[in-house]
Amino acid sequence: MCCEKILLATLFLCLMNSCSESSNESSKNMNTEYQTFLNLCQERRSIRHYTSQPIPHKTIEDILKIGALAPSSYGQNPVEFFVIEGRENLDSLADCKAMGAPSVRNAQVAVVVAADTDKGELWVEDASVAAENILLAAQSLGIGACWNQIHLRKGQHTSASREICSLIGIPSRYEVLCIISLGFPAEQKSPRNAEKMSENRIHFIAN
Ligand SMILES: Cc1cc2nc3c(=O)[nH]c(=O)nc-3n(C[C@H](O)[C@H](O)[C@H](O)COP(=O)(O)O)c2cc1C
Repeated sequence: MCCEKILLATLFLCLMNSCSESSNESSKNMNTEYQTFLNLCQERRSIRHYTSQPIPHKTIEDILKIGALAPSSYGQNPVEFFVIEGRENLDSLADCKAMGAPSVRNAQVAVVVAADTDKGELWVEDASVAAENILLAAQSLGIGACWNQIHLRKGQHTSASREICSLIGIPSRYEVLCIISLGFPAEQKSPRNAEKMSENRIHFIAN
């Protein structure tokens, strides 16, 4: 009887110990994942100058798969990505924005982030989260990227969005949020500091 009690107590202690070890392990892993993600976000900067090294198609696809994983309103996934390559095409694309898009002219590749407005009224939000995913994915693969605003910007004759849809041959129910220029970085920027960036911008409200 006494032996049985000791055996049970030992088993219980072993179980508790292994639970606390695995929970320590998982919180350690979580912290490591957070740290990696924090570094990625701090190091992401808008890169507007690129080398002439081409980006492999596989890398572009890997970046855009992350864009496609972004959340969307009602899970309608209205956002689509159009990859524009070739100097002439990139120049024509940049011309669609009256204010200019110099980083598109410098880019190896540009991604037009557009949404099918028939699939949801919140297309701006849907396209914005997808665009941010793309910026972070590019950073994680060592590719420089920059958001070029198109929504609400003028083109040469109509809106920049309309002119881009007609240039790349997509239906007029699509709206373009932005063009993301991509290339291997030809400029270096220092990382942001999360402490500084979040100063006075985080507010807990409790009763
Ligand atoms: C909604 C939005 C619109 C932007 N539009 C442009 C743009 O048209 N051209 C450009 O060069 N950068 C543009 N940017 C990039 C910002 O200028 C840049 O993110 C900001 O200056 C902070 O710098 P960082 O990205 O290096 O941290 C835009 C960014 C956002 C989020």
